[in-house]
Amino acid sequence: MSRQTSAIGARDAIPIDIIREWDNQHFLHPWEMMSPNDPNRVIVARGEGIHLIDAHGRRFIDGPGGMWNVQIGYGREEMGAAIAEQAVRLAYNSPWAFSSEPSAHLARKLAELAPGDLNTVFFTTGGSSAVDSALRFAQFYHKQCGEPERKRFLARDKAYHGSTYLSASVSAKERDGSMLDIDRQLVRLLPNINPYLRPAGMSLEAWCDIKVADLETAIAEEGADTLAAYISEPVMASGGVIVPPPGYHRRCREICRANGILYIADEVVTAFGRLGHWFASQDVFDFVPDIITSAKGLTSGYQPLGAAIISDRLIEDLVRKDNANLSFKNGYTYSGHPVCCAAALKNIEIIEREGLLEHVRELTPHFQERLRDLMRHEIVADARGMGLVGCVEGRPAPEGREKERLAADSEFGRRVDRKCEAMGLLVRPLINMCVFSPPLIITRDEIDQMFDILDRAISEVEGEMM
Ligand SMILES: Cc1ncc(COP(=O)(O)O)c(C=O)c1O
Repeated sequence: MSRQTSAIGARDAIPIDIIREWDNQHFLHPWEMMSPNDPNRVIVARGEGIHLIDAHGRRFIDGPGGMWNVQIGYGREEMGAAIAEQAVRLAYNSPWAFSSEPSAHLARKLAELAPGDLNTVFFTTGGSSAVDSALRFAQFYHKQCGEPERKRFLARDKAYHGSTYLSASVSAKERDGSMLDIDRQLVRLLPNINPYLRPAGMSLEAWCDIKVADLETAIAEEGADTLAAYISEPVMASGGVIVPPPGYHRRCREICRANGILYIADEVVTAFGRLGHWFASQDVFDFVPDIITSAKGLTSGYQPLGAAIISDRLIEDLVRKDNANLSFKNGYTYSGHPVCCAAALKNIEIIEREGLLEHVRELTPHFQERLRDLMRHEIVADARGMGLVGCVEGRPAPEGREKERLAADSEFGRRVDRKCEAMGLLVRPLINMCVFSPPLIITRDEIDQMFDILDRAISEVEGEMM
């Protein structure tokens, strides 16, 4: 046996500084500098409930809930057993030729949970591939239905839809952009809808009118007959937890329908309980899209899986074309992976059995109240959220203090994050913001612990920066 194999075989015995060295030398993490050499990176050893425990035994509340995805919390033995059982029974089948009980069962379950006539499930490997597939399906649909010139997409400023070429092309977090090629010729971006940006004294209704008018203008300028789909996150997540003004989505949905533009609701973050419902489109925002994309909370992160859930109307339109050769030539080796689907079924079973959707709805007022209370800090410009997801945004220092302004803009998130980490809470820093979306099993007391730490961390950062 080679030295390396025996070391990997005895994983737990490897000293932590060696693991960190291997990590620094060989693991290119997403969104990271080419030579990070991070001497302090937390090496996570295990998870338990809402906590992550590092290799030194330090325990952290997992504020971001993994990456907005660990709904049922860590260390669920029954989840481990379901995954192991399926892996031994049938680890894999080709989705091209065959099917299996978990994938058929999960497709049926998702059709039951999804709103309206969204009954056909295209399985993918995660959120980016679900978005990519939905966008490609929209182009495919129009082409097959006799409007091949409908190729382009409407998306929104600040959106994040993924890291495939196409899903990155409809993403628009300006501070992420520019380093990689994307295809903006395919995309028309609508301006930011964040109500925080509305002029002082303007009502939410008036702001909503302006934002809806942005969509109408874009359609008029581009020409509806060039547009395949509008893609939008019900609550924009990585863009800074941007909650739309009331009625925005429903009105946009109606405008899209009237113009033959498909509406894709990217529910990769908002589905599976984050806002207290299986899906947010209908139950929270009162509209039914043509396609929903989902991933993350679908398996609570225990296995990678995504899904694009498609309306019957679209499938029927395609079938009506009576084209014997019509097939959606898009797919993945791991579409409908039986082990991932078994994990999703167990995850849904746990969410149902433990009443986690009701739990989220019950805790939401307290969570949101504690979140908004952070606005009493001068350094906090905005604290916003919905359900069990929140964001605090730093306030730039007053005019004339350019150094402080720049620091507040670029360092608020990182400084709050460091202080929180030292006090046992993980948050996700996003330049001038921190976002969090803890596991849905969090209790009221644990919410208090989380916000007490955030409060203290923000006070300290305020002392340093204001
Ligand atoms: C709204 C949204 N869509 C798509 C994605 C991409 O998902 P994944 O990272 O699983 O590919 C993300 C990831 O954060 C997301 O927040």
